[in-house]
Amino acid sequence: PQRIVSGIQPTGNLHLGNYLGAIRNWVRMQDAMTGDSRCYFFLASLHAITVHNDPAQLRANVREMAAALIAAGIDPSRSILFSQAQVPAHPELAWLLNGTARIGWLNRMTQFKEKSGKNREGASVGLFTYPVLQAADVLLYQATHVPVGEDQKQHLELARDIATKFNTDFGTELFTLPEPIIPPAAARIMSLREGGAKMSKSDPSDMSRINLVDDADTILQKIRKAKTDPAPLPDDPAELADRPEARNLVGIYAALADETSAQVLARFAGQGFGAFKPALADLLVATLGPVKARLDALRADPGELDRLLAQGAERAREAAAPTLAGAYRALGLRD
Ligand code: TYM
Repeated sequence: PQRIVSGIQPTGNLHLGNYLGAIRNWVRMQDAMTGDSRCYFFLASLHAITVHNDPAQLRANVREMAAALIAAGIDPSRSILFSQAQVPAHPELAWLLNGTARIGWLNRMTQFKEKSGKNREGASVGLFTYPVLQAADVLLYQATHVPVGEDQKQHLELARDIATKFNTDFGTELFTLPEPIIPPAAARIMSLREGGAKMSKSDPSDMSRINLVDDADTILQKIRKAKTDPAPLPDDPAELADRPEARNLVGIYAALADETSAQVLARFAGQGFGAFKPALADLLVATLGPVKARLDALRADPGELDRLLAQGAERAREAAAPTLAGAYRALGLRD
């Protein structure tokens, strides 16, 4: 049976990059599940405290993100949906894995380099050991598949390295090696303002991203203002290689329409962005509109969201217990 595990940081809004890069895949994998297979989806609330933390905001963001995931199609009765902070096995296993992970491995993590920037000495210790907690997140549930965007691939490889070394060093087969599942078309959705930067919650400009909560007018305006170039669209996707903004918009269209970039270009070749952008905006509104409507309804009942999260955490604690006990045993810490 498959065990599918993935997480998202509860930092503000769900944006199009998260949605096309990861969440839509979560929903598809959930809907394709059979028999004894299980899906675990969680809010990486413990990862969120590795950068500046406003506790009241974090509390609100956990609920908001849980509602957004349910609105996007995660069904808490079929998938185990929870907040990481309600399952102590995550930080416990992360500590045990700190004995196995190597400083040199963590030094190579590009996300740490990006997020710590020039002020490496002033970054939190948590930001550095972040990928060890992420390894614990998936290894706890014996994950076979981890649906993520391209930017998380390196963290998943690290989780595999940690699992392999632990199994070898302690002569056990405790941990399953997880496989990343990365969507081909939407692996990396880029900023609408700058084709060289990924679409991100931390970009100070809201015009750089489409949020799942944006209304039709906002979407239209963001797409109209999105950076492009004056050339018409080609019919061969290879010709977009040095046109990052154009390539990004065509990629978003393709992902939304479930087509390849070549199929999209076959329809728009020779036309400029004056024709392409309104079509893209329409497609965005048609896809995100129903999600936003469900989100508005879910927000109205925070008590129900808390109840669903408590229930999910209870199931996660139960599922995590045997692997955590196995790790303590393998290390000679408990019998
Ligand atoms: P996070 O919260 O930054 O993003 C959640 C998911 O969205 C994907 N994603 C993107 N995909 C394509 N284009 C983009 N512009 C884009 N931006 C974000 C991410 O790849 C991710 O799949 N460390 C993780 C959270 C995490 C996790 C885990 C994931 C914690 N533990 C265990 C998987 C398994 C993170 O910060 O993702």
